[in-house]
Amino acid sequence: MSEGTVAAPANSQSAGSEATQRILIIDDEAAIRESLETLLSLEGYAVETAENGEQGLERIAEQPFDLVLLDLALPGRNGIEILATIRQRHESLPVIMITAYGTVSNVVDAIRGGAQNFIQKPWDNEKLLADIRAAIARYRTEEENIQLKRALRQRYNFPNIVGKSEAMLRIFDLVAQVAPTRSTVLIQGESGTGKELIAKALHANSPRRDRPFVPVNTGAMPTDLLESTLFGHVKGAFTSAIAAKKGLFEIANGGTLFLDEIATMGMDTQAKILRVLQDRRFMHLGGVQEIQVDVRIIAATNVDLRQAVREGKFREDLYYRLNVIAIELPPLRSRREDIPALAMHFLKRYAEENGLPVRSISPDAMRALADYEWPGNVRELENVIERGVVLSSGTTIGADLLPGHLTGASYSTSLLEHSPNASLFDIMEDIERRIIVDKLERCNGNQTEAAEQFRIPLSTLNQKIKRLNIEIRKRARE
Ligand SMILES: Nc1ncnc2c1ncn2[C@@H]1O[C@H](COP(=O)(O)OP(=O)(O)OP(=O)(O)O)[C@@H](O)[C@H]1O
Ligand SMILES: [Mg+2]
Repeated sequence: MSEGTVAAPANSQSAGSEATQRILIIDDEAAIRESLETLLSLEGYAVETAENGEQGLERIAEQPFDLVLLDLALPGRNGIEILATIRQRHESLPVIMITAYGTVSNVVDAIRGGAQNFIQKPWDNEKLLADIRAAIARYRTEEENIQLKRALRQRYNFPNIVGKSEAMLRIFDLVAQVAPTRSTVLIQGESGTGKELIAKALHANSPRRDRPFVPVNTGAMPTDLLESTLFGHVKGAFTSAIAAKKGLFEIANGGTLFLDEIATMGMDTQAKILRVLQDRRFMHLGGVQEIQVDVRIIAATNVDLRQAVREGKFREDLYYRLNVIAIELPPLRSRREDIPALAMHFLKRYAEENGLPVRSISPDAMRALADYEWPGNVRELENVIERGVVLSSGTTIGADLLPGHLTGASYSTSLLEHSPNASLFDIMEDIERRIIVDKLERCNGNQTEAAEQFRIPLSTLNQKIKRLNIEIRKRARE
């Protein structure tokens, strides 16, 4: 600006493109309100005033502001209290406190309460204007970032998937990126980690969303049935084929075919699937005509497929065809920060579904949830919460409504209570037996894993298993 030029209002809004910035002054002294209003209006700000805190809060509720100048010593509720209310309603709205005495403790309270800054009466105009400009600029940038993030998230639609751990956020990014493509996706993860949920999200966020999503559990069927289910058959293809039948590849045409539990599929079927993946053509069982389809394939497995390849149980070429995009879902125990949000998500769902007034989880119950190992991952957590909601007679799920093995309560209902004359040795043995049985159950009968988790040699565990007469049971896969 050259010397002698008459200065236009100096704040950034004079650039023209931005909307007028709005400031609220809350002060009980008319003289202060007036002089601040004059100063700020001259600078081009739109100014509103309020004589006390309540009036100020009303103004804020009525219209948006970019900044609040708030007197500390107000009649009625003082500035610190008003600040706290503003913070509850507007996390980041900048507030500059006006203080007459500027005693250290008041200022400290104000800053702790979320004030950006403070000015002392009488103030220096230039410094005050500079502080206001800086606070508003920071606020606008923050708001823009929040808006941007929100817009980005709304572009994708994951309404029922909960996760805020870094691992899950990275998975959401990946899902958002690959959903619109036709690339084959391989989802790996332990049982109950959400593989099917992710497969559905991929479909729902693809251009295929209005076409079918067809899940098929390839592990649950004998080979013949699986093949006729996938590829269909012509009439008379085999004894019971009394009529022609379409296969799932045709039914899923234009949509997505979800091949679940892919690791247990027989070698012959693997070869046929490979062919469809290569050129999207196949034949009905017993047929001679090639059928062309446009199907996106998503496969899932809860075993390490690379290991299955090494062991010769899974075709290497098919593995590479499927593994174009790999999504690895981490077990729940390695993303514990997701537990509270997931628990609340299920609580809300099951309370609504059952018309029950349950709203919260007690702190000790939440602690037990956060500490547990979750061998069954999110599905197990979902079941535990559903049970808690249904059993609850009030508004809160307490630790008493969690299964004993989460809280350690099962060990206390031991011989100690049931047989008053049991010796200490017997009681200890009984508790030890329960702990080992419980651990083995969680490790699906794998003694090496159990010994590792207990941090004892495998031989010691073996001796205990024999001495305590423990029967090893493996959980059947769901
Ligand atoms: N991140 C999540 N947010 C909300 N719900 C979830 C999440 N992950 C899993 N669930 C829920 O947990 C349950 C199990 O998920 P899903 O069936 O997708 O797991 P899976 O990995 O396919 O398990 P399996 O290997 O046993 O088939 C479902 O009810 C699903 O909705
Ligand atoms: Mg599944």
